[in-house]
Amino acid sequence: MKNRIHPHLPFVFLVAFLGAGLLLPAPGRAADAAPPVSLVIQADQAAGKVSPMHSGLMIEEINHSLDGGLYAELIQNRAFKDGGQNPVHWALVQDGGASASIAIDAGHPLSDALTSSLRLDVAKASPAQRVGVANDGYWGIPVKPATTYRASFYADANPGFDGPVTVSIESVDGATVYAKAQVPSLAPGWHPYAVTLVTGNVTPTAKARFVLAVDRPGTVWFDLVSLFPPTWNNRPNGLRPDLMQMLVDLKPAFLRCPGGNYLEGATIPQRFEWKKTLGPLTSRAGHPGPWGYRSSDGLGLLEYMLWCEDMGAEPVLAVYAGYSLDGTHVNPGPDLQPYVQDALDEIEYVTGPVTSQWGAQRAKDGHPAPFPLHYVEIGNEDWFDKTHSYNERYAQINDAIKAQFPALLCISTVGNEQPADRRVTSTRPDTVDEHYYRAAKDFEKMAPTWYDKYDRSGPAIFVGEWAAYEDIIPWDRRSAVLPRTPSMKAALADAAWMTGMERNSDFVKLQSYAPLLVNVNPGASQWRPNLIGYDALHAFGSPSYYAILMFNQHRGDTILKGALDTPGAGTPPPIQYSVTKDSKSGTIHLKLVNINAAPQPVSINLKGIDSIAPIATATTLAADSLTDTNSIDEPTKVVPVVSKLQDVKPEFTYTLPPYSLTVLDMGK
Ligand code: AHR
Repeated sequence: MKNRIHPHLPFVFLVAFLGAGLLLPAPGRAADAAPPVSLVIQADQAAGKVSPMHSGLMIEEINHSLDGGLYAELIQNRAFKDGGQNPVHWALVQDGGASASIAIDAGHPLSDALTSSLRLDVAKASPAQRVGVANDGYWGIPVKPATTYRASFYADANPGFDGPVTVSIESVDGATVYAKAQVPSLAPGWHPYAVTLVTGNVTPTAKARFVLAVDRPGTVWFDLVSLFPPTWNNRPNGLRPDLMQMLVDLKPAFLRCPGGNYLEGATIPQRFEWKKTLGPLTSRAGHPGPWGYRSSDGLGLLEYMLWCEDMGAEPVLAVYAGYSLDGTHVNPGPDLQPYVQDALDEIEYVTGPVTSQWGAQRAKDGHPAPFPLHYVEIGNEDWFDKTHSYNERYAQINDAIKAQFPALLCISTVGNEQPADRRVTSTRPDTVDEHYYRAAKDFEKMAPTWYDKYDRSGPAIFVGEWAAYEDIIPWDRRSAVLPRTPSMKAALADAAWMTGMERNSDFVKLQSYAPLLVNVNPGASQWRPNLIGYDALHAFGSPSYYAILMFNQHRGDTILKGALDTPGAGTPPPIQYSVTKDSKSGTIHLKLVNINAAPQPVSINLKGIDSIAPIATATTLAADSLTDTNSIDEPTKVVPVVSKLQDVKPEFTYTLPPYSLTVLDMGK
């Protein structure tokens, strides 16, 4: 459908023809309009160029964003390292009088990295009395109709035990088998095995488990047990397609990865060690993340880069800078040098020619072509380092990067929103990363002036993490019981904040909402609000997701100047706006945010042009109440609606619905 702005989600879509100045009233909404405001736009005068990198994504392993989220692996604790001696997420299956036991075996490693395996001792079993091990997945195994899954595992059998092993996806009680295949025999010693499982015309469910079963006595060890559904671009070890589609729709210019706190680790040994995330999965040990669970490292550095490639984005590569969350740091100077070298190696892995050491490694790993890279972020939130060592650590890493990769731009993790004594003064960073987690009311207050009045004599700005929360700050325990994704109240504040960043997008070169992803199952997340929610079967965008989508799909490349004339001088403006133009098509994109309960007429005056196409497009995200939101049960309660405006002239009035973000696309 021509005007559909999100082709992949079945949200309600409405094309209405409205005369300019008319409002399509929604039932039950307040009817009394607020006094009009006037917005004058200098349509023929560029106020700056929109940074081509302005809008991107930020990711780290939090909220089961990757394991149990975007990374499509369906088996939780596939390498038996998550629970110490306890085989968490695994259970023994004993049908009809069979008898067996399972245990984590630390003395029977598959590889140097995968040092634990699951030992299954079967005392009694037969074809009518199977014994097996069942995995409950990441809050269930998603069963979808007519779907092909690839199951694989390593097994080592005691002499005399040669299988077969039956592999199945079945209901949690085992009564319904959705897909089944058999590995006919096992050989002694560790060997890989793989089968394909195909579901029929089943009703989708996540109330399912994955089972490896045998039908005779003996002992067998399992490791690296894996189950993948179809992935984005059919990549092996790939990503979940529904989530990828939502990310691609956002048209991200970059992906800031891999964090965030996750980059730093709770301690120095638990930092993101990129070299340990390369190569075959048998050589990836995984590591404890800072958010309370282990990472499999199945999504390693190369997979981050492929993810960028698949989105048409480039990485903003965050390199470890010698500070971890427990407050320890590496002294600048010789102590830091190995970490500096590690960062240089990492950049070479991403960008180096195949003739370089790490470029050759990337080629060996399957990607000879270098990845594009312009920005490297040195650390994360180093203002927390109370010893103030970042000033020197930054300079040491920055100088080494500039010496080997002179074209790269380096980002300091201490922005101007942090105390002056924490900022980098040893050298001038190219860019500084500012983080804003703010209450909706604060973003609404800040948006009209924050970056408009900013001192532009310093480094360019990357707003590497930002999000509005409704009332309760993310790190307050009371937020733990709230929905994992934001409501319309936060989305409108996010939209307001984006108007300020976009008006200044020649200077705010990059920005990314955080966190991006959340598994909404109870116990799966550590933070709110988050942009996109999901469980094993479903995914939904929050109202803030759609607000960002609307900005990004109507970006323009030139900033136009506007002036808002509000009824009472000195009072906060009743609306927030940003206006850009696409220099090729001439289309003017006007974003308007009405955070109030009353309809808001806006008298729009496009100065400097004689005519405008009489039909314009309005894309509107509106809600009846600030508490309206989307969820697994109501994924499309708040979604953009497209309508056509008639009789548009260089001077016309448009009435914004209550609680709304509107994008007007006006053509020449
Ligand atoms: O986005 C969640 C956390 O907030 C990030 O890991 C950290 O950088 C910030 O404090």
